[in-house]
Amino acid sequence: MTDKPAKLRSAQWFGTADKNGFMYRSWMKNQGIPDHEFQGKPIIGICNTWSELTPCNAHFRKLAEHVKRGVFEAGGFPVEFPVFSNGESNLRPTAMFTRNLASMDVEESIRGNPIDAVVLLAGCDKTTPALLMGAASCDVPAIVVSGGPMLNGKHEGRDIGSGTVVWQLSEQVKAGRISIHEFMAAEAGMSRSAGTCNTMGTASTMACMAEALGVTLPHNAAIPAVDSRRYVLAHLSGMRIVEMALQDVRLSKLLTREAFENAIRANAAIGGSTNAAIHLKAIAGRIGVQLELDDWTRIGRGTPTLVDLQPSGRFLMEEFYYAGGLPAVLRRLGEAGMLPHPDALTANGHSLWDNCKEAPIYNDEVIRPLATPLVSDGGLCVLRGNLAPRGAVLKPSAATASLLKHRGRAVVFENFDDYKARIADPDLEATADSILVMKNCGPKGYPGMAEVGNMGLPPKLLAQGVTDMVRISDARMSGTAYGTVVLHVAPEARAGGPLAIVRNGDWIELDCEAGRLHLDIGEEELAQRLAEWRETNTRPNAADVSGYRNLYIDHVLQADEGCDFDFLVGCRGAEVPPHSH
Ligand code: FES
Ligand code: MG
Repeated sequence: MTDKPAKLRSAQWFGTADKNGFMYRSWMKNQGIPDHEFQGKPIIGICNTWSELTPCNAHFRKLAEHVKRGVFEAGGFPVEFPVFSNGESNLRPTAMFTRNLASMDVEESIRGNPIDAVVLLAGCDKTTPALLMGAASCDVPAIVVSGGPMLNGKHEGRDIGSGTVVWQLSEQVKAGRISIHEFMAAEAGMSRSAGTCNTMGTASTMACMAEALGVTLPHNAAIPAVDSRRYVLAHLSGMRIVEMALQDVRLSKLLTREAFENAIRANAAIGGSTNAAIHLKAIAGRIGVQLELDDWTRIGRGTPTLVDLQPSGRFLMEEFYYAGGLPAVLRRLGEAGMLPHPDALTANGHSLWDNCKEAPIYNDEVIRPLATPLVSDGGLCVLRGNLAPRGAVLKPSAATASLLKHRGRAVVFENFDDYKARIADPDLEATADSILVMKNCGPKGYPGMAEVGNMGLPPKLLAQGVTDMVRISDARMSGTAYGTVVLHVAPEARAGGPLAIVRNGDWIELDCEAGRLHLDIGEEELAQRLAEWRETNTRPNAADVSGYRNLYIDHVLQADEGCDFDFLVGCRGAEVPPHSH
């Protein structure tokens, strides 16, 4: 690129010989920064989600050091700053509850500070969308550096995958096949290095989405956290962001409608998490790109799932990297004419296709050829019907094929507590053909739309050898989970969606091929039940809960809208605010 250097916004802090310039420079100088660092160098923010409470991002200070080396080498000046770190494993009620909060932190930190461009250090599930949402609302030049996945879990001589093995083993405990001691022995083996979940869960999915969107350097998604090449990539990203600052390569040049279409196709090919549908919508909303749930059907369906990773398949992220990583997948898609927009610009200044057209592919079992896919019709299945007027999703690659068209009677749980209280009841009226329905776990209902949609099966059925049942809720599910699980029902029960009026014994029809989710009651009956519905899950007193919780319930959008806050949707730019003195 030959664009002329843009006027640096940081000059509006550091570039004047007056009272304000004095203040901005002087206080920074307490860190031992010499004069020449303020003389027109691009100031590169390093937005860090490091936290020891977000174990997946706990190695990020080291990652930041390598980014800084690259920034210095390219003639920029790096400034690292912390933002809210929403880690999936510890945060309650769910890291999704604070995704938008973190995005506000990112947005205001960027806009209010002397930053010309930003490196987004993200890893755990919600940190990637939160950082991209905040940066997109500012539309500054930005590049994502992911933390990378953990090494393969190891337990009793075999590989075990983050999250996925927890769901598997806990069902085996409930079915009486293994002891609680055997179960707990897997803990240390599952998480034995720095990094994010090593399955194709939401963290790996969102890292792949960032790469497919073109906001990372090639291979960012898959290099293991502890592989020295991860730190090389951080260094190179630090170098590149300085050029992006000088060339004014803003996020809006990368995050185009075309980029999102590429990402949706890539999600199908990797067997990615259902959570991507929510996060991509939220990111698109921040940059002003129209994206609808039905785009997932139009662009994603019919795409073969090529990547044989857990939870849909067999392998883990280490194998994915050694097999060629995302560039290899994109190459396979592109050679088959299945990359919707090969010319889309990426962070390194080259097109997506330029970056992947010669990507080596080392292992056809992990990254399968199109002729022998893991699932021939991958992608997310978007469902609609009188039970989900604004949509619901299901991940066919993680489901049981014979249940994708199913008619069964509802076993209804009013909320997650009700589910926990009754699921193990030997008298629960449920058979393998029943459909488990859970209400009030949506964005407003939980609140935060926790990953409880893959509700465990009744132990009495597990003991009979039942391994999967149709489940329906307004919740999400962990990207590491599996099953014939209908998620993200919109509108949610708490907002008065039809899910709220399902009763025990109602017949429900699921037809993935037809994209249909139908509650088999008459229109009049449906209308009458909806008219009679009253909010039961009432809002707690403001004095009893956090103020943020009430703000969340009042402003969160439904799943089909990306669960952003209504007042945060849109790009507000990075015009420099007034002086502080
Ligand atoms: Fe952080 Fe899975 S819990 S990446
Ligand atoms: Mg997760």
